[in-house]
Amino acid sequence: KKILFVTSEAHPLIKTGGLADVAGSLPKALAKLGQGPIIDATTETESEPATEHGQDIRLIMPNYQDIQHVEKPRYICTLRVDNRDVNILETHLPDSDVIAWLVDYRPFFDYPGNPYVDDHGNPWHNIAERFALFCRLATEVAMNRAHLDWTPDIVHCNDWQSGLVPALLSLESKAPATVFTIHNMAYQGVFPGAIFSALNLPGQLWHPDGLEYHGMLSFIKGGLVYSDRITTVSPTYAQEIQTPEFGYGLEGLLSHRHTILSGILNGMDLEQWDPSSDEHIVSNYTARTIKQKLPNKTALQQRMSLPVDENIPVFGLISRLVEQKGIDLVLACLPHLVKQPLQIVLLGSGDKSIELKVKNFAHLYPDKIAVTIGYDEQLAHQIEAGADIFLMPSRFEPCGLNQMYSQRYGTIPIVRKTGGLADTIEDALPHSIAAGSATGISFNDASAGALLEAIKRAQILFENKQAWRKIQQSAMKKDFSWENSANQYLALYDAISDA
Ligand code: ADP
Ligand code: GLC
Repeated sequence: KKILFVTSEAHPLIKTGGLADVAGSLPKALAKLGQGPIIDATTETESEPATEHGQDIRLIMPNYQDIQHVEKPRYICTLRVDNRDVNILETHLPDSDVIAWLVDYRPFFDYPGNPYVDDHGNPWHNIAERFALFCRLATEVAMNRAHLDWTPDIVHCNDWQSGLVPALLSLESKAPATVFTIHNMAYQGVFPGAIFSALNLPGQLWHPDGLEYHGMLSFIKGGLVYSDRITTVSPTYAQEIQTPEFGYGLEGLLSHRHTILSGILNGMDLEQWDPSSDEHIVSNYTARTIKQKLPNKTALQQRMSLPVDENIPVFGLISRLVEQKGIDLVLACLPHLVKQPLQIVLLGSGDKSIELKVKNFAHLYPDKIAVTIGYDEQLAHQIEAGADIFLMPSRFEPCGLNQMYSQRYGTIPIVRKTGGLADTIEDALPHSIAAGSATGISFNDASAGALLEAIKRAQILFENKQAWRKIQQSAMKKDFSWENSANQYLALYDAISDA
């Protein structure tokens, strides 16, 4: 199958959050699927490989100034779209054959920093223009009008930044089939109605059953209304977004389309997040050599200028500092937590007022809380390896990746039971611990009291070395590989295209 994967970020080229992790690893997993021989279970003979070279999947994303290039991108062509000359460059996802096409339009993308927001955290003033142009280019490529000599069977779009692609393709004859994946319903790309005409978008798309949303222009509706299939990144979130609490006004549309909506859990990049070979950490370990996790804790305590003490539980937190992540719940617990024998290591950036509050706590209690504001991949790995417990009390979480990384690193996650967190963590209760299936601690209410209660449970369990080891072992053994999910995407692609 030929698949065009449309995304606004991909690790390690550029990343603001989990979408980049997914866009950097799912295409690689898909590219590998179908490569091996298939064993026929009835005859035990090998049949022909499904395709000789796996899936032919290619990525398209904007060429931001801050992309980390491993190879120099190659100029391919220039297209005139919406009165602008836009270049297409070609590179690869590092360590793979997956081609990545970069939409290169300097006035829009040649800026330093974050793809979506400026230094003050406000959306770029022309963000609608930027991603509308990106969507037009992706549409041209999808229709093989970009001199690339390649026509996809499937166009797989992700989040609002690519939402106009299914809408534009709906106006074409012989367009490829489309899949739209929701990574987060809280970001919808909604702009004043006047922008619709300023963007020169086709008038047929402007109606309440199209891109219009209460008189405004909604990019995400392009994906939700016009795609052949909608997916989201966990089965629980697929249900949740059909309710007002999580659907942000689009729950009606989503329940109306529930027959083509499904949840496919994200996998994780097992090579990049592997405690046995992680180059960012001081001591590699496996489930069998878990004692070797301890030097990472010591190194983390030293790096963060916290008292070095192996008996004090270290709680890690790595996150965008936004309401979604329940940081306010952590803030509400902090006055109690600083009186306890524990340490907290926090890495994140986002909402300026949250940044200020956590920094203040760190300033007041330097022996208890260490805060790093910013984005630091190496430190993220060191926290995953060095912490004992990982905090993820999200108010909502479409999938979440850090709770999976934490399990793989034997760092027990405390999560709120929502979205992908509910689907990836088995709560540590007496029976699940005994059965060897417990991998974390989960709680229900989005309240500081419920979080404190969960933290207390973690502290008690941490003291019980035998039970703790057991939970760590179960967590580290869990299979979060992409293969299973990539196969589910492939089945979906098969269902909507006969090529
Ligand atoms: P979301 O996409 O909502 O931010 P996910 O859990 O899916 O949440 O993915 C977040 C990803 O971003 C993880 O890989 C996490 O390690 C990473 N991350 C978030 N904040 C930082 C930070 N300040 N420094 C380094 N990595 C970070
Ligand atoms: C979003 C979600 C997160 C998910 C990620 C990748 O940013 O907030 O839960 O893991 O996308 O799908």
